[in-house]
Amino acid sequence: MASPRFVPPHPPRPSGPAPFWAGLLGERARNAVYGWSQQAFEKTHIRRQVFGWTVHIPLHPDSIQRVMLDNAANYAKPAIVKKLIAPMIGRGLLSTDGEDWRKQRKVVAATFTPPAVDALIPVFRKAAEDKARGWGDGARFDMAEEATATTMAVIADSLFGGDERLKTVAARRQIETALAAGSEIRLPALLGLPVFGWNRKIRAGQRAQRELRATLRALVQERADGKGDDFLAKILGDMDDVFGDVEARKLALDNAATFYLAGHETTANALTWALFLLSEQAELQDSLADEARAAIAASGDGPVSVERLPCLRAMLDETLRLYPSVPRFDREALGPDELDGVAVAAGDIISIWPWVLHRHARLWDDPDAFDAERFAKNGDRHRFQYIPFGAGSRTCVGARFAITEALVILAHWITEWRFLPVPGNRVWPTGSVTLRPQGGLPLRVERRA
Ligand code: HEM
Repeated sequence: MASPRFVPPHPPRPSGPAPFWAGLLGERARNAVYGWSQQAFEKTHIRRQVFGWTVHIPLHPDSIQRVMLDNAANYAKPAIVKKLIAPMIGRGLLSTDGEDWRKQRKVVAATFTPPAVDALIPVFRKAAEDKARGWGDGARFDMAEEATATTMAVIADSLFGGDERLKTVAARRQIETALAAGSEIRLPALLGLPVFGWNRKIRAGQRAQRELRATLRALVQERADGKGDDFLAKILGDMDDVFGDVEARKLALDNAATFYLAGHETTANALTWALFLLSEQAELQDSLADEARAAIAASGDGPVSVERLPCLRAMLDETLRLYPSVPRFDREALGPDELDGVAVAAGDIISIWPWVLHRHARLWDDPDAFDAERFAKNGDRHRFQYIPFGAGSRTCVGARFAITEALVILAHWITEWRFLPVPGNRVWPTGSVTLRPQGGLPLRVERRA
């Protein structure tokens, strides 16, 4: 798997930090991974004042462990973040805390056990094959779009009874618009201003959110009327037992939105970045295609075993290190604490940045270079320096689902197709809620002989 050193693109790094107001302008305001100074990738803790908020960015894995595991009870999802995402995902699993969260997590957990996820491998394979059926030899596609349509089909087929309303181009656009508004809303929310109608992008995002929620509300109503036997029907029934009828309906809708969104956007971005990295490394792509072909052949007519894809798995892990689909997530301190010798007060925001942690100079050799070997070797790492799926009890409930899905889709695609760069196209990471290539990822696909 050894290949020449390859450093995929990342935004330029000024030597020192910019004043905080510079973050409110231009590319820095729009793109969460733009404008980080080289110093940030060398420090173990950053503390900033932002509009009266004290924000800590812990960059030592011990501090991440303290926030996410050892003293996790002291850290909740920030009130300001809940306010921002409430119109879209309400009080679903991702955006709630305490007893409410514990009960919901218990309800959904059964759907994400290893045997339950393995049983979905045929669904992942079908989505990959359905999508590739539309490709022509030598044609050029936006693989970000292709990946998103594929993971949308997967989430609709595996959790929502294959409902066609969740697979349309219109639904895809609504999600894009709603997410794009997310970064715009950040500023007025930080300033404590009402976010409603701040600008055209926000208004469009709010309209898209309402439309998406209306579609999902119709689905919940249908399950309540006894139509459909799927994840949504199951959580509606189980939540009814735990929370009562009225609350169960609200939470089923909030979780439908949570799982629809969190369950496909993130995996689509992981697939997109993996395809980009493969398209730039032809030799690696060919050797992984050999591994995938052998794994698929060994499984006969049955579902491919992802255990037979160790090199592809290492490549996916390296993809999520360099381009974590969720480049940041936040907590709010409920009481005082200390991180890396720095005092934390109740109300302080703890901003956890996989984007910075995964490229930190003290934690990784040659951090900006692609090297799947670091994962193939099962290297000597602190458990909390690599956290694409979060950590502790709030670890992504869909992590195994996402990894299995991405491996199965990639294995089937690279076995049949070769992915090639489009000359002259510049790939540029941009992130607000999730990290994606700006303007999509045009690639040329070539059928393998
Ligand atoms: C590559 C794909 C994915 C990545 C990188 C990812 C990343 C994350 C991260 C970082 C968190 C923790 C956020 C925090 O602690 O504040 C999270 C939580 C969550 N993810 Fe994922 N995710 C992925 C795929 C999925 C899938 C496929 C699903 C569902 C089918 C899903 C559903 C969720 C939910 C519901 C939570 C909240 C869990 C809780 O708080 O108990 N994610 N994800």
